[in-house]
Amino acid sequence: MEILVSPDPAATARRAADVVLAGLARRPGRDPVLGLATGSSPLGLYQELGRAVAEGRADFSTAHGIALDEYVGLPPGHPEGYRQVLLREVCDVIGLSPDRLAVPDGSATDEASLVAAATAYEERIAALGGVDVQILGIGANGHLGFNEPGSALASRTRVKRLSERTRRDNARFFTGLDDVPTHCLTQGLGTILGARRLVLVATGDGKADAVAAALEGPLTASVPASVLQWHPDTVVCLDEAAAAGLRGRQYYDDSAAGLPSR
Ligand code: F6R
Repeated sequence: MEILVSPDPAATARRAADVVLAGLARRPGRDPVLGLATGSSPLGLYQELGRAVAEGRADFSTAHGIALDEYVGLPPGHPEGYRQVLLREVCDVIGLSPDRLAVPDGSATDEASLVAAATAYEERIAALGGVDVQILGIGANGHLGFNEPGSALASRTRVKRLSERTRRDNARFFTGLDDVPTHCLTQGLGTILGARRLVLVATGDGKADAVAAALEGPLTASVPASVLQWHPDTVVCLDEAAAAGLRGRQYYDDSAAGLPSR
């Protein structure tokens, strides 16, 4: 794991964008496959990727975008459905074609249709040859995607119940708690681990406990984001506030400085 701490959210977003672009550059000649998180954490990163496009340092016109998750039961076109959110916050910003954006289909409400949608989503990811770089946020309860505490570490895309903590946290995007869906389709932790590079972005003191538990605590289903420790290419981009609970901070900073120059 590489843990990169920046002074503030803006610097964190710039650094995370560099990490994402470097990860995508490793597989030249292939249409890049970018895994997309929703929520507040990656917004600055998406703006920075948009800036890179404007400056000619990046081009997402042939890229594919793969969403992490989607609510179950929202009517198609609902502004807080993750397809609409990603169209606004990513496609419009980085020039990703809406035709190349894949989001789990959470429009059905019966179990058989949702199981079929989950299977279809796994097949879609596999048909694209897997995700090159997966952008991630972390829930204050340690969730990754919508894999709530207790999620199997090898899980695949499936229906999950949202925890009350997550529903309360996300009520800010809806008119009230009652409007927040109770269920979602989410990539599993095993699905997420299949991406070639994982880039977690977390800022603010509200994330400090979850970040410390995920990065320095035991690998456990009780803290789903602790699976980041298992992946061979996890890069964690934090601001000072989100890094405040880390005990190994000095070592992470020393490591980020690289080899001594001669
Ligand atoms: C989003 C997602 C969630 C969020 C997490 C943090 O697609 O799957 O895991 O990344 O809830 O949300 P924010 O960034 O809004 O604090």
